[in-house]
Amino acid sequence: MKVVDYEYIVRLIQPRLTVLITSSSKQGNAVMAAAWITPLSYIPPIIGVSIARDRFTYKIIKESKFFAVNILDFYYVDNIARAGSISGYKVDDKFEVCGLTAVPGLKTPINVVNEAIGILECKTLKIENYGDHDFIVGEVLCGYAKKDFNTYWLLEDYNPVFYVSEGHFYTIDKSSLKKYEL
Ligand SMILES: Cc1cc2nc3c(=O)[nH]c(=O)nc-3n(C[C@H](O)[C@H](O)[C@H](O)COP(=O)(O)O)c2cc1C
Repeated sequence: MKVVDYEYIVRLIQPRLTVLITSSSKQGNAVMAAAWITPLSYIPPIIGVSIARDRFTYKIIKESKFFAVNILDFYYVDNIARAGSISGYKVDDKFEVCGLTAVPGLKTPINVVNEAIGILECKTLKIENYGDHDFIVGEVLCGYAKKDFNTYWLLEDYNPVFYVSEGHFYTIDKSSLKKYEL
């Protein structure tokens, strides 16, 4: 074992499932890659995502009080990487720049990602500051999935996106699945 540099310690708990966070307000549509996301409660369904305050998406979520978690297949990893490296502050239409399609949410007044295989639409409950990020807690108002989800992901068709850091993404697919049944 060797001691990990202070600034990289939290990366010991990556890779993590990587999603796209979207939100919309009068200021525009936001979409960004996020790996620091976690479930918090089953009933009611509550999740949390850690977002740095300088993100355009952070500003839009603060304004609209709604956000969505969009789960995409590894097929879209290049689009996700773009959503994680370009800022909505720098481009007019980040969805277009990232090759993604914005469509209206079902239960919230914000856009979601048409290419997503699963979507959770959330209303912000609380925003708390933790160091260089803010933890945004949201109650999930509705969730829907396109395929490969029954009461959990089967991972037979869907290849999740995992991010380790510094631009390195991984997936698992059918040929590399190791299963353990409890
Ligand atoms: C795979 C990946 C995961 C990321 N996860 C997060 C995250 O969880 N929280 C965060 O604040 N930034 C995260 N980022 C960085 C933002 O996605 C990035 O700064 C993005 O350009 C912000 O866009 P915006 O300014 O349009 O909101 C991640 C970047 C990548 C590539």
